[in-house]
Amino acid sequence: MSDLSAPVLTLDGPSATGKGTVAAEVARDCGWGLLDSGALYRAFAYIADRKGVVVQDDVAIRRLGNELDLKCSLGPGGTAVILWGDVTLADEIRTESVAERASYYAERPCVREALLQQQRSNRRLPGLVADGRDMGTRVFPDAKVKIFLTAAPEVRARRRYNQLNEKGINASLAAIEEAMRARDQRDEQREIAPMKAAADAVVIDTTQLEILEVVTKVKALLLCP
Ligand code: CDP
Repeated sequence: MSDLSAPVLTLDGPSATGKGTVAAEVARDCGWGLLDSGALYRAFAYIADRKGVVVQDDVAIRRLGNELDLKCSLGPGGTAVILWGDVTLADEIRTESVAERASYYAERPCVREALLQQQRSNRRLPGLVADGRDMGTRVFPDAKVKIFLTAAPEVRARRRYNQLNEKGINASLAAIEEAMRARDQRDEQREIAPMKAAADAVVIDTTQLEILEVVTKVKALLLCP
């Protein structure tokens, strides 16, 4: 059950702008809950693929959406993990191929509908930090503070490349940049809940900023000490 009296901070924007890391740090510092909505979409795509549900099959997707109970929690590595019954989904949903599959499922209205209530049910006192693409525009339009993070595409591709390398995942910088551009385009142009800054969002360009600088700016906007 969600608690509408709980304040929400939304962090939206494209991949590798630092949303996930900033969201986790602010949530930890303020003692608030954390919702990584991208991880929910990733988990949905991962599970659908494992169960052989194809993207075009609305009936099977709806059935899966109704039976799935996914919870978001902060994992030991400081990033969000998804609890699917007694299974914890962590590294297996962090690959670029799962991210790409997620963006195809995310275009489907029945998937977005199925995940809407699951996302809102994370709203509890003392507050929630939610990161994604449509947190400020659709899922929590009454959020207390809304932020939209951006950064130059080549800087974002380099960040994602380094992140994957650190995890020992082999990837080519050019392929990452290309896949990221295609995914941004799908996210920006889909009909339902496209990625965009809410009219009342504060836009922060993180191209030249360290994570700590972004965390400090966000906490100042939230009046969190
Ligand atoms: O980690 P990264 O920012 O690259 O991606 P993510 O936040 O994990 O999201 C993966 C994909 O899920 C995105 O490209 C979107 O297509 C979709 N998504 C969405 O449609 N709406 C959200 N609120 C969050 C993610």
